[in-house]
Amino acid sequence: MKGVILAAGKGTRLAPFTKVVNKNIAIIYDKPLIYYPIITLRDSGVTDILLIAKPGHGGQFLDLLGSGKDLGVKLTYDVQEEPLGIAHGLAVAQDFADEGKIAFILADNIFDDTFGDAVRKFSDSGTGAVIAVKEVNDPHRFGIAEMNGDAVVSLEEKPKHPKSNYAVTGFYLYDSSVFGIIKTINPSARGEYEITDVNRHYLEQGKLSAIKVSGFWKDAGTFDALLEASTHMALKRKK
Ligand code: DAU
Repeated sequence: MKGVILAAGKGTRLAPFTKVVNKNIAIIYDKPLIYYPIITLRDSGVTDILLIAKPGHGGQFLDLLGSGKDLGVKLTYDVQEEPLGIAHGLAVAQDFADEGKIAFILADNIFDDTFGDAVRKFSDSGTGAVIAVKEVNDPHRFGIAEMNGDAVVSLEEKPKHPKSNYAVTGFYLYDSSVFGIIKTINPSARGEYEITDVNRHYLEQGKLSAIKVSGFWKDAGTFDALLEASTHMALKRKK
């Protein structure tokens, strides 16, 4: 299965650092942030990867990562022209996916878990979509999945009154119908093509399943999250 990393966000929550440096180059203990999603895909068996950057920032990734050989992956690069939402960014990958299934990860998501079993199963016989959920203390910050055991009951993007503590993390598996679904969705109230609307479409078709993330997970989109992720990685290395 091919992989897609979306790294084309505005990074406004990390200004002024992000005025000149892409946030995914920020250091998380001993590695640039972008290494973590690459390693998550690689260690899940996905090595043919498209990295989507924002205009003017592709060069930073190319300088840092090159072909991807040093990390044991093969990288291809593309650009999301405007930050119109995660689903809009994923649409850039349609030609790269070439009608195959894809593993999709947000560039600022750091996982201790790898997803090899889920990737193999989905690659062999899966249809629809798979999300990865993790219980959090601050559910209003995320896409939230209401769960009944392992089954997803409902999905909401950053609800004011979350129905559960299960955040939808930034790791997803999609079949090739995802690109057709993206074309059917409309921008949300905040003007973005939401990945939660894509996942809700699968849910309504009875084609969405979920895996529960057991280890550390961080969406490193804020200064506090960067610090927490760095501290976690430092302690893990020193164990
Ligand atoms: O991290 C998990 C969360 O990611 C999910 O729980 C939410 O459902 C999902 O909407 C997303 O929420 P965020 O508030 O973290 O999204 P953010 O705008 O920070 O974007 C996440 C990553 O995607 C970030 O690295 C930037 C990138 N991005 C974002 C947008 C809107 C793009 O590359 N292009 C875009 O247009």
